[in-house]
Amino acid sequence: MRNVNKENITQAVLDSIAHTADPRTKQIMQALIRHLHAFAREVELTEDELMKGIEFLTATGHKCTGTRQEFILLSDVLGLSMLAVAMNNDKPAACTEATVFGPFFVPGAPHYDDGADVANGAPGTPCDVRCTVRGLRGEPIAGAEIDVWQADDEGTYDVQKEGLDHAQARGRLTSRADGSFHFRSIVPEAYPIPTDGPVGTLLHATKRHPWRPAHLHFMIKAPGYETLVTHIFREGDEYLDSDAVFGVRQSLIRAIDRQADGTYLMAYDFVLNPQTA
Ligand code: BEZ
Ligand code: FE
Repeated sequence: MRNVNKENITQAVLDSIAHTADPRTKQIMQALIRHLHAFAREVELTEDELMKGIEFLTATGHKCTGTRQEFILLSDVLGLSMLAVAMNNDKPAACTEATVFGPFFVPGAPHYDDGADVANGAPGTPCDVRCTVRGLRGEPIAGAEIDVWQADDEGTYDVQKEGLDHAQARGRLTSRADGSFHFRSIVPEAYPIPTDGPVGTLLHATKRHPWRPAHLHFMIKAPGYETLVTHIFREGDEYLDSDAVFGVRQSLIRAIDRQADGTYLMAYDFVLNPQTA
């Protein structure tokens, strides 16, 4: 086609992908083109602004490394990650709610015996975490594989520490016959998401703070059940109502209590959704 103009260019681009073989790819690309063009029209995008946007995305890509995922961070602060979680995790109200995955999960973390100290030297106040994993009818789920990960008391994940060659405040556990598992770790503290890249610039420009309320991450897998990716948030945290990535659910907030012996305790009973055939 020739002489496309601002009126007919959207249809011209849509026509150009008419033969896309995979129907889902076609649907997604059609919607992307329509919404991108509508966005440009709505804001009356200038060529300078388009170039600034391209530079922003280029810088986002350049910031990514094996352990730093600036695009996930961008999706998180734009609420896109939490929107995808919310749209794809509809389940009975009794099930534990899901929340954002975040960029700091590491596959293949060390496996620990029940009751072990997963902090493994991470600085922080020791905290015992006692949990159960059950199904909707209250049945204990034995042999569930649990990944847990968290930041230390300075708000840093092990993978962010240069020169650290072992996992800290991160590990895998297996639930026992009665569905329980427990481990020692450290009291989670609020921390800012990384702001030394383009996402930080964006937060600054839009007058947003980068803080996440204190939390522990969990991923729980068990045969016959949907995998659960979630957090437990610390009750009383000042950022529960302004999480930089919109991940807080009321049902995921728990107290961390100081025990008579001076140690801290957090508890949570997870409920997994059965997998549908
Ligand atoms: C996290 O909780 O680890 C996290 C989630 C989203 C963005 C940054 C960090
Ligand atoms: Fe986190």
